[in-house]
Amino acid sequence: MNRKIGFILADTHGGSDLGMLSPGTQIDMELPDGRVEKRTLELNPVQLYLNKIFEWLLGVAIQFAQGDEILFIHDGDLTQGNRHGSLISPSETIQEIIALKTLSRVLEALPTCRTVRILKGTGAHVFGSGDSEAMVGKLLGQQYPDRDVRVFYHNLITFNGVPCDISHHGPPPGRRTWLEGNEARYYLRSLMLAELVDGRVPARLMVRAHYHTYVKETISMQVNSSEVQSTIVVCPSLCMVDDYARKVVKSPYKISLGGIFFETIDGRLTDVQVAIKTTDVRTKEIIDGSDRIEPDRGVPAAAHGGGGTGTG
Ligand SMILES: [Fe+2]
Repeated sequence: MNRKIGFILADTHGGSDLGMLSPGTQIDMELPDGRVEKRTLELNPVQLYLNKIFEWLLGVAIQFAQGDEILFIHDGDLTQGNRHGSLISPSETIQEIIALKTLSRVLEALPTCRTVRILKGTGAHVFGSGDSEAMVGKLLGQQYPDRDVRVFYHNLITFNGVPCDISHHGPPPGRRTWLEGNEARYYLRSLMLAELVDGRVPARLMVRAHYHTYVKETISMQVNSSEVQSTIVVCPSLCMVDDYARKVVKSPYKISLGGIFFETIDGRLTDVQVAIKTTDVRTKEIIDGSDRIEPDRGVPAAAHGGGGTGTG
């Protein structure tokens, strides 16, 4: 049995106050007397929270892989860019150092990861045409010459015999709860039909990101006497919601952070799973003269007559 697994992260937004920053990330700092010193960047509470999830995901990857070969995919927005606020630094170099440290941790934790593919994200976040991602990919490849690291806009990978179509931009998750997944299904069906019209078998797995929201849909089609099946996943992020996203997504409050894992055995896609932690970012407050703000992440118990719905 030839088993290989895929591990996908996306939208880590290194360089944002609300994105991934790894402990021990060092940058050069010029002192008043002209000397240059290494300075270790300090993690804020959001970044400490993201790191807990990141470490948990690495643990899930180790368990899921069981020593088998891993393909690691970063599906875009490795850095935050300098067009939006809430930055650790607007410097492209500093943001690349931050992103490089995070990807290095993946490779340190996962020695059976031989292949890394980085997909280029949104121009505003990656200094134009995926420039920061191209540079981080280059530096990561130099740091780990035994690993195959490449950076693309849109990748059609056949991994262990399973065709996977991967790019950053794709369908939105759906503007209403009851519409979730519909856009992804239209998008997936259209891609499948386009491939079939051109005489190709559609990719078995399609991976998209950008919306920081997890969606998974599978479509089966009968083509003559056989069944064609494709699954699309839109990846969750490792970045908390910023001022811009609060406006564009119209006050999202249930934020899900995590990664995607898939299993391939002998040319078949046998499993696609998400590992996710959801948090409610609303400030929960009970105004009863006690002046307290609820520290927990659940809905206040009283609203349910006991038993809150605190999410992990
Ligand atoms: Fe993003």
